[in-house]
Amino acid sequence: MRLGHFESLRPVCPRCLATGGAAVPLVLGMVEEATAEDVRWGTLVCGDAACAMEYPIVDGVPILVPDLRGWMAANGHLLTTRTDLPAAMEGVLGDGFGPDSAFNATRQHLSSYGWDHYGDLDPETPPGEAGSVVRCLDAGLDRLGALPAGPVLDLGCGAGRTSFELAERTGGLVVGLDLHWPLLMLARRVMERGEAVFPLRRSGIAYDRRRIEARFTGAERVDFWIGDAMFPPFPPRRFALVAAMNVLDCVASPPALLRAIDGAAADGGGAILATPFDWSTQATPVEAWLGGHSQRGDDAGRCEAVLARLLTPGAHPQSVGRLHAEGEALDMPWTVRMHDRACMQYLAHIVMLRT
Ligand SMILES: C[S@@+](CC[C@H](N)C(=O)[O-])C[C@H]1O[C@@H](n2cnc3c(N)ncnc32)[C@H](O)[C@@H]1O
Repeated sequence: MRLGHFESLRPVCPRCLATGGAAVPLVLGMVEEATAEDVRWGTLVCGDAACAMEYPIVDGVPILVPDLRGWMAANGHLLTTRTDLPAAMEGVLGDGFGPDSAFNATRQHLSSYGWDHYGDLDPETPPGEAGSVVRCLDAGLDRLGALPAGPVLDLGCGAGRTSFELAERTGGLVVGLDLHWPLLMLARRVMERGEAVFPLRRSGIAYDRRRIEARFTGAERVDFWIGDAMFPPFPPRRFALVAAMNVLDCVASPPALLRAIDGAAADGGGAILATPFDWSTQATPVEAWLGGHSQRGDDAGRCEAVLARLLTPGAHPQSVGRLHAEGEALDMPWTVRMHDRACMQYLAHIVMLRT
C-alpha cells in the first residue's frame, strides 16, 4: 500500500460504512515490513474502538471489504499460494487439476483480461484486436471533457490497465479496486515491474505463459487495493473521477453500485460507466437485473431504459441523487477472448456522468 495514497485518500472502515453508513478513518496498525513509501506487510485498523476491525495488508495490498471473514474464507488460500511456479509445471498442474478446477477457472480469467488489457502491447498480437476496454474508456473520457484535478477511483479494475490509463490521462492519484486477488496480482506486477505476465489460453486446458513489457507514465501514482465496488472504503465525494468499466452486471446490487459511484464522485466531478448488461444469476439475482426481465413492465425489459431512469434523480425509487448523464450514451464493441478460436464480442453501453 502506497503511503501517499493512504495519507491522501484517508480510507475508512468498510464494515462501519456498510453496516451503519459511518465514515470511520482507518489507522495504521501493525507494520511488519515497510519502506518510506509503502507498507508491504501490516494491518489497517478501524478507529472506532467499538469496531476495531483489523484489515490485513498482504504483499502491499490492503484488504478493505465489509465482510472480511467472508472474503478471507473464499479467497484466503490464494493469499498463501506460491507464485513461483515455472511455466511448464503450471501446465502439468493444470492438466492434473482438470478443466473444472478453480485453478483453471483462474487461468481463464487471467488469460481473458490479461490479453485485453495488455495484448495491444504484445508484438505477437495483431494490431486492433486487444485493448477494447481502453478504447471504450478513451471514447467515454473524450466525451466527458475536462474534470477538476483530484484522485480517480477505478471500480472493478481487474488486470489494471484502465487504472494506468487514468493515471496518464488525469495526472492524479488512482486507486484500482477489485475483489479478484489473482487479477490484482497481475495488475500489481505491471505497477511494480513494468511487465504483464499471464497464462494465455490456446484451447482446452493448454495455456502459454505470456510476458509483455508494459510501462506506463504515472504508474507510481497508481495503487491496487482489494475492495468491494458497492462499498468503496473512502469518505464521501473524494474522487474527481470514478470509472466502473464492465462491472455493473457483475455485482449483487447494481443500484448499490450506482449509489456508491454517486457518493464517491466529488462536487463538479465525473464518472464513466460501461456495461454489456450480460446478466447472470451467479452474480446478480434476477430481481436486481436492470431490464432483461419484466417485458410487460414500464421499461419493457430494456436495460438501457432502466439504467437511464436510475441515473436520473427522481425518475426511479432507487435513482441516484447527484449524478446526471452528460451527452448521449455510446455503444462500443468490448471483447473478452476465451481461447485461440473464440472471442465473446459484446456491445458495451457507455454512459458519461457528472455531478
Ligand atoms: C467483467 S470484469 C471487467 C474488468 C475490467 N474492468 C474490464 O473492463 O476489463 C469485472 C471485474 O469486476 C470485478 N468485480 C466483480 N464484483 C465486484 C465487486 N463487488 N467489487 C469490486 N470488483 C468486483 C471482477 O473481479 C472483475 O475483475
